[in-house]
Amino acid sequence: MCSARVEFLLPADPAATERCGQWLGEHLRPGDVVALVGELGAGKTTLVRGLARGLRVNDAEAICSPTYLLVVEHPGPVPLLHADAYLPDKLRGFLDDGGLEYLLDRRSVSVVEWGNLVQNYLPASTLWVEIGLAADGGRAVALRAGAATDFSWIAGGPKMSFRD
Ligand SMILES: Nc1ncnc2c1ncn2[C@@H]1O[C@H](COP(=O)(O)OP(=O)(O)OP(=O)(O)O)[C@@H](O)[C@H]1O
Ligand SMILES: [Mg+2]
Repeated sequence: MCSARVEFLLPADPAATERCGQWLGEHLRPGDVVALVGELGAGKTTLVRGLARGLRVNDAEAICSPTYLLVVEHPGPVPLLHADAYLPDKLRGFLDDGGLEYLLDRRSVSVVEWGNLVQNYLPASTLWVEIGLAADGGRAVALRAGAATDFSWIAGGPKMSFRD
C-alpha cells in the first residue's frame, strides 16, 4: 500500500500555523491519531491550538505544552487528547501502564507532540505532521499518512491558503 505525502510552506506568522492546525481539526474524525514531529520551538503546540479550535473543543485557547502532565484531555463534541513525548521514558511508562488504551480512545482525536519518540506505540494509520523551520522564518510542513486511503483530504492542503 502506498502512502500519501503532502508538503507546503507556512509564512512567518504563528497565526498561519494555527490556521493550518484549524484546517486539520476541521477534517479529523473520532479515533484519528496525529503525531507531531519537529524541534524545540518548531510550532507543534501552536498547531495543536488551532487544531483544537477546528475540533471545537471547549477550551482551545488553554492549549499549552503538556510536557509534565503527559496527556491533557480537552472535552468537546469530539474530545482532544493532547500528549507530549518530550520526556519519552515518562510517556512510555504511562503508555505501558494502561495509558495506551486511554490515549487511543476511539471517541477522541489524539495528538502526540514528539510522536517520533513513541513511534512504536502509535497505529500504522497515524497521520504524521512534520514541522521544520524555513529559511524565511516560516515553517515547512510535511503531512504523511500510512496509506493513501487514510486522510485522503490532506491532498487539499496546499491548495488552500494559510495566509490572511
Ligand atoms: N509559522 C510561524 N512563523 C513564525 N513563528 C511561529 C510560526 N508558528 C509558530 N511560531 C512560533 O514559534 C514559537 C514556538 O512555538 P511552539 O511553542 O508551538 O513550538 P513547539 O514545537 O511546541 O515547541 P516545544 O518543542 O518547545 O514544545 C512560538 O513563539 C510560536 O508563536
Ligand atoms: Mg510544544
